[in-house]
Amino acid sequence: MLSLVVLISGGGSNLRSLLEAAEDAEYPARVVAIGADRDADGLEHAEAFGIPTFVVPFTSYPDRESWADELLASVRVWSPDLVVLSGFMRLLPERFVQALAPNLINTHPAYLPEFPGAHGVSDAIAAGVTQTGASVIIVDNGVDSGPIIAQERVAVLPGDTEHSLHDRIKIVERQLLVQSVLDIANGTVNLQEPQQA
Ligand code: GAR
Repeated sequence: MLSLVVLISGGGSNLRSLLEAAEDAEYPARVVAIGADRDADGLEHAEAFGIPTFVVPFTSYPDRESWADELLASVRVWSPDLVVLSGFMRLLPERFVQALAPNLINTHPAYLPEFPGAHGVSDAIAAGVTQTGASVIIVDNGVDSGPIIAQERVAVLPGDTEHSLHDRIKIVERQLLVQSVLDIANGTVNLQEPQQA
């Protein structure tokens, strides 16, 4: 059974998909703790599923390194097999990534390497593309530049707003995340030697 710590900043709908998947006794992963960099709305899912939480507020620390060191310490309390960044909207310093790599994955609302960064959905709309997508990657020291575990295209429809497009991307993203964790747990995806889906 793969143990997961999931880190969030927002509403946590991807997190909720993992929690729901893990209710199936056959699903080979369990969320053991949920962490956040702020008082994120998504922490309510933790309460609903009876999962412990920790919050390490970014704004309470003098610099990114000291914040990330505390976050890492909080993650390590749970000795997870895998850490999932699921709408976690803070850049993590190299020493945090190196401490967990390659057992650190991230979901992203674009077809990487297209539209990396914090504005993947609005950047796709601004670029006028007809297709974008969703990706699950292994985190490396760049911004959304790590090896791709899984990704899928999503059409940009005429009249799409950032909100409407993001909603459709997240439907795909949640399935990709649940499948990626399953693939990692059963060895179909080897994080040491990932191959593009
Ligand atoms: C997801 O679309 C995720 O890919 C994105 O935030 C959303 C969180 O949704 N993350 C990034 O853009 C990171 N660069 P959720 O809180 O409902 O799971």
